[in-house]
Amino acid sequence: MSLLREIELRRARRALSPEPIDDTVAGELVRAATLAPSCFNNQPWRIIAVKNEDGVASSDAMRAALTPGNAWALRAGWYFVLCTAPHLDCRLDEGRDYAYFDLGQAALALQIQAQHLGLIAHPIAGFSSAKVRAGLAIPKEFVPLVVIVVGKAGADDALSDKQKADETAPRSRVPLSDVAYRERFGQPFSPLP
Ligand SMILES: Cc1cc2nc3c(=O)[nH]c(=O)nc-3n(C[C@H](O)[C@H](O)[C@H](O)COP(=O)(O)O)c2cc1C
Repeated sequence: MSLLREIELRRARRALSPEPIDDTVAGELVRAATLAPSCFNNQPWRIIAVKNEDGVASSDAMRAALTPGNAWALRAGWYFVLCTAPHLDCRLDEGRDYAYFDLGQAALALQIQAQHLGLIAHPIAGFSSAKVRAGLAIPKEFVPLVVIVVGKAGADDALSDKQKADETAPRSRVPLSDVAYRERFGQPFSPLP
């Protein structure tokens, strides 16, 4: 399968199975994330991999930190908490702070590798940052920016009606001509036939 096809097939799905996922798989995902490019090779990401297991403090903290709308993520196999801090990466003129950008690149590499392995990898911002920070001992200068929920595909019985519908809804994107330009800002780039 082409890489573009795999990227097309990736969706932020929510119907998860509670089946566990091996540590070696989690290791592959972390490896993919840490191979992302970064400004000056600063590698500003800090990734905390938390296996979803009952009775383990870090895992309990992750589950307790989820917003009600993200209850579907209680069935995750793993939570990957991606943290960074602006001072860890290039800070150039005109607001060009690269830490968050580079963390995003690491996040996408992890998600694409998960897709390749047939797993669901769903980024979420809907969590209590304070609870995650406390539960995982994240120092105050680091921002736990996103959690990537990784799991095996499963039933949709834990989803709201809207979330169930989203599982099979066509992908929603603004038209390419609104966001991709050719030669000058605002001039649509339309390479596709
Ligand atoms: C930074 C970020 C935060 C997100 N937060 C949530 C979230 O809290 N809950 C959720 O269900 N989806 C969340 N999503 C998933 C998006 O809703 C989803 O990626 C978007 O609707 C596009 O769908 P697609 O990824 O299937 O193309 C988040 C995605 C990103 C990148």
